[in-house]
Amino acid sequence: MSYNAFGIDLGTSNIKIYNRNSDSIMVEKNMIAIENKNTLFAYGDSAFEMYEKAPGNIHISYPLCNGVIADIKNMETLIRHFVTDQMDGSIKPAEYYIAVPTDVTEVEKRAFFDLIKDANLKSKKIMIVEKAIADGLGVNIDVKNSQGVLLVDVGYDTTEISILSLGGIVLSHLINTGGKKFDEAIRAAVRQEYSLIIGSKTAENVKTSLTELEKEGKGAVVYGRDLESGLPVEREIPTKLIDDTLKEQFKVIMDNIKVILERTPPELGADIYRHGIYLTGGASQVNHFGEMISKGTGLQVNMAEQPIASVAIGLSKIIKDDNYKSVAYSIEGMKSR
Ligand SMILES: Nc1ncnc2c1ncn2[C@@H]1O[C@H](COP(=O)(O)OP(=O)(O)OP(=O)(O)O)[C@@H](O)[C@H]1O
Ligand SMILES: [Mg+2]
Repeated sequence: MSYNAFGIDLGTSNIKIYNRNSDSIMVEKNMIAIENKNTLFAYGDSAFEMYEKAPGNIHISYPLCNGVIADIKNMETLIRHFVTDQMDGSIKPAEYYIAVPTDVTEVEKRAFFDLIKDANLKSKKIMIVEKAIADGLGVNIDVKNSQGVLLVDVGYDTTEISILSLGGIVLSHLINTGGKKFDEAIRAAVRQEYSLIIGSKTAENVKTSLTELEKEGKGAVVYGRDLESGLPVEREIPTKLIDDTLKEQFKVIMDNIKVILERTPPELGADIYRHGIYLTGGASQVNHFGEMISKGTGLQVNMAEQPIASVAIGLSKIIKDDNYKSVAYSIEGMKSR
């Protein structure tokens, strides 16, 4: 009997689930809203809708932090609901392929496996895939045959910088920066320069509309609370202020890319030079990020076509194509890695 199969990328901001039967990828906020400490009130995008607006008895949170599962119980609840939705209301036996970051402890990696096992999903098989490998497949790299690929995934809480070669990972470094730090930096700059407090969703909107605003020659119009008067006000923030603020954040990523390049065996360096850097993850789309990385490293950059979904696209290829199955491994194979 053949079961349905799911490919799961648990992002700190967005959860992505590939469903083989429908051959589609669901993207929802990896967020949960709990009422009065124990009742599920909302999950996914609808929990995010309420974020920063809900009353005190509704607690809204992300169960993942810095790329690893921080709140197991809520993550189990979330995954069960998302998968149930994918199965039209009732859990049926299925196979699971789950992407995990490389640069975390064995215990943290195992927690991704345990999550699926313990969430009452009737799992028939649980396979682990290193996230960077799935990412590579998702941006159309022939990971099994390529030697020396530098891939950078800029997500929400994390940025993963990896060197891949011949279907394996040569080096991988997970750093605690990404879209969230970009939003925080925007909030801090607006507060400092304009004595204005803005919410994190407003900061995110500014960040994602920068390219468009710059094209139109406009500033970012934001609503917030004036620090001195305490009153709600509207202000127009020049994009240059935001760009300068974000450049400092990009530098952190750049410095880490350089460290990885310094540690890369020289034989692989030549291939990396030929291929250029692959950039993916939602926050890699921020205005000027690709250019800055290209300028700072002297390498050409390849931007992903679907940066938010690239890991899930890679998982879909592993699920659909037997040729790629060997990059997935079971928990028994974990210790040796
Ligand atoms: N058009 C855009 N421009 C800039 N940033 C964007 C754009 N679209 C999404 N983002 C940012 O991408 C981030 C989410 O990306 P992604 O889904 O890859 O992260 P994640 O996988 O949840 O996080 P992580 O990989 O760190 O666990 C958010 O910070 C979001 O603001
Ligand atoms: Mg991610």
